[in-house]
Amino acid sequence: MDHTVVLGTGSCLPDRKLTNADLEKMVDTSDEWITTRTGIRTRRIAGKGEQNYQLASRAAEKALAMAGVEAADIDLLIVATLTPHMMMPSSACFVQAEIGATGAFAFDLNAACSGFLYGLDVADKYITGRPDMKVLLVGSETLSARVNWQDRNTCILFGDGAGAVVLGGERGRGGVLASHLFSDGRLWRLLYMDSPESLNPDLVQESRKGCHLQMTGRDVFKYAVRAMEDAVAGVLAEQKVAVDEIGLMIPHQANIRILNKLMDRLGIPEEKVYINVDKYGNTSAASIPIALDEANRQGLLHRGDKILFCSFGGGFTWGSMLMQW
Ligand code: UT7
Repeated sequence: MDHTVVLGTGSCLPDRKLTNADLEKMVDTSDEWITTRTGIRTRRIAGKGEQNYQLASRAAEKALAMAGVEAADIDLLIVATLTPHMMMPSSACFVQAEIGATGAFAFDLNAACSGFLYGLDVADKYITGRPDMKVLLVGSETLSARVNWQDRNTCILFGDGAGAVVLGGERGRGGVLASHLFSDGRLWRLLYMDSPESLNPDLVQESRKGCHLQMTGRDVFKYAVRAMEDAVAGVLAEQKVAVDEIGLMIPHQANIRILNKLMDRLGIPEEKVYINVDKYGNTSAASIPIALDEANRQGLLHRGDKILFCSFGGGFTWGSMLMQW
């Protein structure tokens, strides 16, 4: 039987770095507060030529080059994003045009910070049904355009970037073993971003705060830890895989304290967890594929290793996935 495997990875980060010292000049905060409460030291901010679809296209081209697959041979192109270039057409269609993936059908997928894992699951379902398919999945975000740079509760957390994978079917390799995905729309008010042109009566009536990202951080934090712990425990139990059999865990990068709690509760040692939240902050749907590409290019992923992913984000959406490299 064919399984969904990663044929290549790529990522692209904007050139401009925004440090905690820079933020000290913009809002009432300190490097010490940001570092101890979040683990974030710098984040990247998109500039000219670094729009959502442009970052996505550069990441995609690197993944295609590693995979040895031509853009024209991609059958399905998915961009996971909550900050699309336009409302319509999708960022995926912009990427398609930019890289020449003329044979693909293309669409965006919005599951906030869980978008990449949801996208992997969708791609896996297509490839399981048609193993000769080649899928290009990109997580790409330009969150800097949608945070309120006067709100110290949120503006210090987020960054821009893109990561991509080329996926295909292969016999004799483990590939995607299982995924456990969840949503709970009842909790949307704890983390949301209204559309710029929205006339949403709910939000207008409750003294709408504009179309920037809004978050009740402390509550999100608690849900995130518990939800990711449960999702990981569920996928490991289903696959009868013990924590010490994991080669590398690549979690969504939101806050080092969330990751520390997760590692404690799951009993996963820090050396088995890929962490880059210090460099890029929270890049939402892009965070897992950027981390995956870095781990891959650093030679941290070995054939046969069990790789564990988990994420949590707005919606709420969350989940876990187990993959054999
Ligand atoms: O991608 C998935 C979704 N997002 C997340 O997973 C993020 C989850 N939440 C978090 O990471 C954390 O809750 C935050 C980093 C956002 C906040 O950390 P916290 O330890 O939960 O702080 P807090 O919100 O409880 O705020 C503590 C204090 C408050 O002051 P008072 O009310 O105690 O006087 C805040 O006003 O820290 C204050 N504060 C700040 N101080 C300096 C909030 N932001 C800042 C800041 N600099 N940037």
